Amino acid sequence: MEGLSLIFLGPPGSGKGTQAELFERQFGLKKISTGDLLRDAIRRGTELGKLAKEYINKGELVPDDVVVALVEEVLGKTSDGYILDGFPRTIEQAKSLDRILEKLGKKLDAAVLFAVPDDEIIRRLSARRICPKCHAVYNLVTKPPKEDEICDVCGTPLEMRDDDKPETVRRRIEVYRKDTELLVDFYRKKGLLVEVKAVGNPEEVFEFITNALKR
Ligand code: AP5
Repeated sequence: MEGLSLIFLGPPGSGKGTQAELFERQFGLKKISTGDLLRDAIRRGTELGKLAKEYINKGELVPDDVVVALVEEVLGKTSDGYILDGFPRTIEQAKSLDRILEKLGKKLDAAVLFAVPDDEIIRRLSARRICPKCHAVYNLVTKPPKEDEICDVCGTPLEMRDDDKPETVRRRIEVYRKDTELLVDFYRKKGLLVEVKAVGNPEEVFEFITNALKR
């Protein structure tokens, strides 16, 4: 797995971030999450953050040119052995990624599709909590903190993500079906799609993914 360059593709709450972290820890692949980069810009109050917040809190996608520029900058500083978590999300972004990779002389080994039913997504996201200080991610059902709603790592009270409210989650799923699901065919046609049933505990899903990639 070391040195692989991967896309993690799937609906909100399908476990892309959780698995990207496991892959980072286990195989040293660099996790590049556009959601994390945008939330970081929001926290720092930059112009990019102000713009991103307007879209994210409504469950809409941030404009392609903004996200593509962000990814191009990060990929320019990254050697092979990375995971793009939550990028690309539109055909336009996928075509831009092809251009960027060609320009940088980089490769892409696979696009891993996380298959999770909608009711499971809603269950996971309504129970997700994040630490506003160290950004650790919890789940009140499947990965609860030791002390009620307090971060195990830094002791900060946990929060719900603004875009995890039920009406915003519904919109995020609609946007996924309308814009992002088109990428399944895009990567299948390139022979890069690896579909994984992403249900079970995170360690089991990790095994499903590594086994599918080995095949
Ligand atoms: P982003 O942060 O990328 O959100 P997302 O893709 O909707 O994904 P999530 O972070 O909600 O879920 P995940 O699949 O990573 O699951 P996780 O591992 O956290 O993007 C947010 C917003 O930013 C977008 O809506 C958009 O506005 C903007 N944006 C980002 N990228 C963009 C782009 N390319 N273009 C335009 N706009 C962009 O897990 C979820 C929960 O489930 C956690 O509580 C976790 O503990 C739990 N869990 C994980 N795995 C399991 C398991 N196997 N079993 C049980 N529980 C589990």
